[in-house]
Amino acid sequence: MSLFLCPGCRASFEPAEPCPGCGTQVGLLGGVHDFLADSERDTRAKGVEDFYDVRPFPGYAPGDDAGTLIDRCRSSPFLLGLDRAIPADATVADLGCGTAQISSFLALSSARRRVVGLDACRASLHEADTFRRRVGIPNLTLLRGDLFDMPLPLDRFDYVISRGVVHHTPDPFGAIREVAARVAPGGYLVIGWYESMARLFHRGRQALHSVLGRPVWALDPVLRRRDLDVEKKKTWIEDQYRHPLEELLSLPDVHGELRKAGFDWVRTIPPVPEGDELFQPTSEPSGFGRFALRLGWVARGLTDEDAGLVSLVLRRRSASSG
Ligand SMILES: C[S@@+](CC[C@H](N)C(=O)[O-])C[C@H]1O[C@@H](n2cnc3c(N)ncnc32)[C@H](O)[C@@H]1O
Repeated sequence: MSLFLCPGCRASFEPAEPCPGCGTQVGLLGGVHDFLADSERDTRAKGVEDFYDVRPFPGYAPGDDAGTLIDRCRSSPFLLGLDRAIPADATVADLGCGTAQISSFLALSSARRRVVGLDACRASLHEADTFRRRVGIPNLTLLRGDLFDMPLPLDRFDYVISRGVVHHTPDPFGAIREVAARVAPGGYLVIGWYESMARLFHRGRQALHSVLGRPVWALDPVLRRRDLDVEKKKTWIEDQYRHPLEELLSLPDVHGELRKAGFDWVRTIPPVPEGDELFQPTSEPSGFGRFALRLGWVARGLTDEDAGLVSLVLRRRSASSG
């Protein structure tokens, strides 16, 4: 069954062909199916698109190939854990995929996975498409689309990942609901966002940046790294200190929204579990337990290279589990 919906009649279709129901043909940007074309977007959403058009995120290293991308992703305990825990034949949607490094990694790691990467930014998708063509990733489909009007069926994907995206939209909780609605019953959601307590330390760095007009490199664990090239650091500075739209959301609020949408708690990241246990349920913390978890996130602010980006993993209840 197709993983895509026709923007004309909302019937299931394959975007490479005209819709058999209404004849709508989706345009191409290179190898990217462009569902947005020149449609008018919300001013703030357009501001975010323009921002990433100048500096697509995350950047590829010069000469990146399948091997270097896989090695780099496997050096991240979170991405390694994700790859180990997602079955080899799963359908995966990466919503707000940027330059599609996570999507490419998951698709390259298992040729039977069907991976869809969606983003609104032309330049990021162009980088994703260039990499995909060079390396050859036939099981990755790239779409240009808006999180609030996705050409993707409801209840369809075994795994939905959306990392670092919803807090850059004009309506973060609306975005969370849109993303969550694509998860199949019994499927899993991995949602990553700037958590209000986890990002406290970075908020301090941002305040210093606005006073001084530049970041204090010694206080930022990414800027302190000697192994990163200057381009990656420039991208980091833009993304972390000069972003036009950034909201902070608390763990209890995000979890509450998703509980209402029919999801059960699996875990938060950090901490990253060992081996292939990323989707093994852990006991849901009490109110005090959640507060203690968040206090721990505040404390790691000085060394946290994700600058307060945390992920919540949840499982959508299946019809039989009520
Ligand atoms: C910080 S990047 C994260 C990229 C990727 N998820 C990752 O972790 O490597 C945020 C991405 O969200 C996308 N984005 C923000 N708002 C969006 C929207 N309304 N619709 C689609 N994509 C959006 C941006 O274009 C950008 O590529």
